[in-house]
Amino acid sequence: MFSSKITGLGFYVPNNVVTNDDLSKMMDTNDDWIQERTGIKQRRWAVRGSDDTTTNMGVKAAKIAMERAGISQEEIDFVIFATLSPDYYFPGPGVAVQKELGLRTVGALDVRNQCSGFVYALSVADNFIKTGMYKNVLVIGSELHSHGLDKTTRGRGVSVIFGDGAGAAVVSRGEDKGKGILSTHLHSEGEFAEELIVKAPGMGTRWVTDILNENDPNDESYFPYMNGQFVFKNAVVRFSEVIMEGLQTNNLSVNDISMLIPHQANLRISQFIQKKFNLSDDQVYNNIQNYGNTTAASIPIALTEAWEKGKIKEGDLVVLAAFGSGFTWGSVIIRW
Ligand code: UT7
Repeated sequence: MFSSKITGLGFYVPNNVVTNDDLSKMMDTNDDWIQERTGIKQRRWAVRGSDDTTTNMGVKAAKIAMERAGISQEEIDFVIFATLSPDYYFPGPGVAVQKELGLRTVGALDVRNQCSGFVYALSVADNFIKTGMYKNVLVIGSELHSHGLDKTTRGRGVSVIFGDGAGAAVVSRGEDKGKGILSTHLHSEGEFAEELIVKAPGMGTRWVTDILNENDPNDESYFPYMNGQFVFKNAVVRFSEVIMEGLQTNNLSVNDISMLIPHQANLRISQFIQKKFNLSDDQVYNNIQNYGNTTAASIPIALTEAWEKGKIKEGDLVVLAAFGSGFTWGSVIIRW
């Protein structure tokens, strides 16, 4: 068995900043409500007509990660792209990355695990590398939420939370078995699939010709539905469980954590976990205040930002944890 480690990180967000006050001009909401319930102050929403597609943002993040890893196109062996907002229903954006980055005809895999997408993708990359199948895997999480949100008062419980952006990591074969990705832990509970869901177009359950004939402007199934309080309650339990599972697998304890990067679902969830584990502000990285919840992109954006700010140093124990639609959740334990 080989070891695997993150050798390059990058992120990209659209330029367009949307504040809570901007949202209150579109729907019945306000800065106080949003900040109090979520911690979010602003998010980035791609300008309509710009070239900020899910694929393009992912490619921009990937280029930065590859440059920092000091790796060329020829050296990437495989691409994994996590998103719930692909440019096309199919094919997924993995193949577009192969084309845009001019990679050889490497394999490209799309991961459909929503907020846990990056953790799942990292786990696949880790195992491909540890078994010796590949040396360098490019892992991307990218989301363009803003085009698919209901920006009226009807959709305010969901639309104020989500933001656009992308993050990427190069995962490479390492030499030192005590370093890099120590373990990954994945879970799901499909019983609650409909508690956080976009049902449309639902081509496995609906006839496309019916959808076209109905042409119903009030069809809400194209917008995300979230049972917010139920998701919140499950999130805090599962986040805690899966972090502990990861630590215990490696004979580590909460005291060993140098940096916890939780999926940026809601600042209140991160704060709950921080308090439960008695972690200091320096041990938990949050940036949902500035970017909102960017789903599969949130962990690689936060990880990159924390690393850029010098908050992650060699030898640190870095813990990534995510929970979201599916339900799916997971954690990654890294010795940096
Ligand atoms: O990343 C994937 C995983 N996602 C999560 O982990 C999200 C988990 N859930 C949450 O973060 C929270 O449940 C939300 C932030 C989504 C909602 O917060 P909440 O405290 O659960 O609010 P609520 O849905 O219970 O709504 C409370 C009130 C309602 O009004 P009434 O019925 O009490 O009169 C809502 O209609 O707040 C109202 N409301 C809003 N008011 C102003 C809902 N959205 C808004 C809004 N602005 N944007």
